[in-house]
Amino acid sequence: MTTPMKTKVGIIGGGPSGLLLSQLLHLKGIDNVLLEKHSRDYVLGRIRAGVLEHGFAELMREAQCGERMDREGEIHDGFYIAHDGIRDRVDLKKYTGGNSVVVYGQTEVTRDLYEARDKMGGTVIHEAQDVTPHDLKSDAPYLTYRLGDEPHRVDCDFIIGADGFHGVSRKSIPKDVLTEYEKVYPFGWLGVLSRTKPVSPELIYAKHERGFALCSLRSQVLSRYYLQVPLTDRVEDWSDEDFWAELKKRLPEDVAGDLITGPSIEKSIAPLRSFVAEPMRYGNLFLAGDAAHIVPPTGARGLNSAASDIYYLYHALLDHYQDGDDTGLEQYSQKALARVWKAQRFSWWMTSLLHTFPDSISYDKRLQQTDLEYLFSSDAAQTSLAENYVGLPF
Ligand code: FAD
Ligand code: PHB
Repeated sequence: MTTPMKTKVGIIGGGPSGLLLSQLLHLKGIDNVLLEKHSRDYVLGRIRAGVLEHGFAELMREAQCGERMDREGEIHDGFYIAHDGIRDRVDLKKYTGGNSVVVYGQTEVTRDLYEARDKMGGTVIHEAQDVTPHDLKSDAPYLTYRLGDEPHRVDCDFIIGADGFHGVSRKSIPKDVLTEYEKVYPFGWLGVLSRTKPVSPELIYAKHERGFALCSLRSQVLSRYYLQVPLTDRVEDWSDEDFWAELKKRLPEDVAGDLITGPSIEKSIAPLRSFVAEPMRYGNLFLAGDAAHIVPPTGARGLNSAASDIYYLYHALLDHYQDGDDTGLEQYSQKALARVWKAQRFSWWMTSLLHTFPDSISYDKRLQQTDLEYLFSSDAAQTSLAENYVGLPF
């Protein structure tokens, strides 16, 4: 074992949650060490979220990482819901009193955060194997990990579990302490990234009896499309031709006619799941982001829910180190979960509204149709959708 490193905050996971917290703390002079299991290329190769809410964008600016996002990201004031051969627009700006979302890929967010960590000389350790948190209930918790064959140790005041759904942090909390709520949906999303002009300048969420589809984008030359697929489908089952043909069938005719297709540069399937673990604190371990909760991607809430955890955690740690005030740390789990559950409700609702459920009975289908008709006949319903989509206040 090499000489233990000593830091204030040990962070597990170099996704957006861990990186953002690491950067924010460092800017306030709070020393931290971040351990990431994979190489940087691997982390930056994952294609995930595309829509950032206002609060997330603000945190990126506070972390001094907002410059490229503000230059290259697109402000979207609305999106479409396609159904029954037509498109209805949800006017985010109108129904939220001027709010909007930023279309800027999670890959770019992560890249900007890594660059900022490098520039500030932050300690980010990649390919850290067998990361294990210890003595979580004590005042001196520590982390052990391996780099190659060499064992290492980091002593810290607090450990942040920002290691995603499959990480080690949540699993290190005793089972009898944690309550887990889970809903697994009977389908996944098959995503394709292609270097083509997006079919629409604004996102289109399409409800169709063959299954849900989404037309999204990363820029005006990079498109991201998704299809609802059965859980039994594998990526290899879907040629590019099959993907484009199926997408066209699920879009209104005028949209399908405008679709520009091309070779896929990434293709992957993500299963849809809702999950929450409570509480989000165990001793001096604090969970954040996908480590504690995940949502189906339909409402674009996942990364944005992670951002509110980081916001609460960052301020709680600042209060602890700057003023000796632990109220924020004590209230973290309760405060974070209150917002997390609202994102869960919204994501579940939007998923239920727009997908085809294999076991739904005719009654369910008529209710789903009525929900959609009500939405576009009611300002109150559109206000509710819009305020949730742009993000509830932190
Ligand atoms: P992660 O991004 O999962 O990062 C965790 C990190 O921890 C990873 O780098 C992992 O390698 C590392 N790690 C894991 N285990 C260990 C370990 N034992 N030791 C050390 N490191 C470890 N959200 C939105 O808000 N808007 C969207 O539009 C949106 N679209 C999505 C589309 C798809 C197809 C998918 C799959 C997700 C989407 N999401 C979206 C959700 C969003 O991507 C996640 O919520 C987000 O990645 C969570 O960030 P995180 O940092 O908490 O976790
Ligand atoms: C994406 O562009 O990847 C994306 C956009 C909106 C969603 C989900 C994913 O709701």
